[in-house]
Amino acid sequence: MSGQEEISARRPRVFSGSQPSGTLHLGNYLGAIRNYVAMQETHDCIYCVVDLHAITVRQVRADLRRNTIDVANAYLAAGVDPERSIVFIQSHVPAHTELMWILNTITYMGELRRMTQFKDKTAGAEGESIGVGLFDYPVLMAADILLYRADAVPVGEDQKQHVELTRDVAERFNHAFGKAFVVPDPIIRTEGGRVMSLDDPAKKMSKSAGSENSYIALMDAPDVIRRKIRRAVTDSGTEVRGGPEKPALTNLLDIYSILSGATIGEIERRYEGKGYADFKADLAEVVVEALAPIQTRIRELEADKSYTLEVLKTGAERAEAIAERTLAKVRERVGLVPRP
Ligand code: TYM
Repeated sequence: MSGQEEISARRPRVFSGSQPSGTLHLGNYLGAIRNYVAMQETHDCIYCVVDLHAITVRQVRADLRRNTIDVANAYLAAGVDPERSIVFIQSHVPAHTELMWILNTITYMGELRRMTQFKDKTAGAEGESIGVGLFDYPVLMAADILLYRADAVPVGEDQKQHVELTRDVAERFNHAFGKAFVVPDPIIRTEGGRVMSLDDPAKKMSKSAGSENSYIALMDAPDVIRRKIRRAVTDSGTEVRGGPEKPALTNLLDIYSILSGATIGEIERRYEGKGYADFKADLAEVVVEALAPIQTRIRELEADKSYTLEVLKTGAERAEAIAERTLAKVRERVGLVPRP
């Protein structure tokens, strides 16, 4: 085992993942990937491209392949450092699905039925035609996290409920069979934890949203970003001032603040006496500038495909070594006979 395979036991461990089910957007970046990068300073980090989660919704084969590599490239381009962190593809480590099965046996139907994301994704659909994978999705997510005995899980607000379920399942297992799992904490930044759609501030920014104008993709060209921000809905009134009665503007102010480092108060003062148009024009430049270095790096990674593939290969080996240790303990706890 090389020195890299064994991550130090001293630092707390992070696990997180994103689905390759479409283009990554500014919500994924601000809510999750930016924190993946920051947490490398204090934690040993494991970042996964969760392709098995993506197939709970039908994917076009070629798109899934491309999107999977795109997500890995986005992690690397944003600053996830494969010398320090493990980056891998979920389906390359079969332990995820095996642990999922074992966790299935202690997870309740009622718990899964209460998951907001499941309810949203299946709203209006008849139970007869809802895929079992969509229902069971949070158990796979619990397996992802628990396999690595992660202490912390950086996610956007929309995944909090799934991490809470993971905690419940971990505690239940530890109680019933003896301690095998670390009970993880969700890490959700107040700023960026819930980036809203540009055309409807009541909905989160999402890749599955109907309109392209609702989100800024990580790879959107500068002019596309400018157009989308210009078209973003704003609230009635003319003053650049946030607040609960101005959800659309507040969302834009949040994005401005996170990416520029200025506080909301400073930004509001900067635009006193100016209108939405000035504010939006400047915000567009802030976003364009923030994404430019990531986009450049993604293009470089796309030009040399072998680098990312090598990172993913090493990542899967390192991940598997950790996952197999946890799984061996789990099998023992449950009473499965070790393979002779
Ligand atoms: P996914 O792929 O939908 O999103 C990836 C990450 O981006 C965050 N996010 C947002 N944050 C702020 N504002 C938004 N509008 C926004 N939209 C998305 C998500 O919260 C997430 O952190 N089930 C997970 C993937 C997953 C996972 C895991 C995460 C599978 N296994 C284990 C952590 C640990 C998902 O579908 O995320």
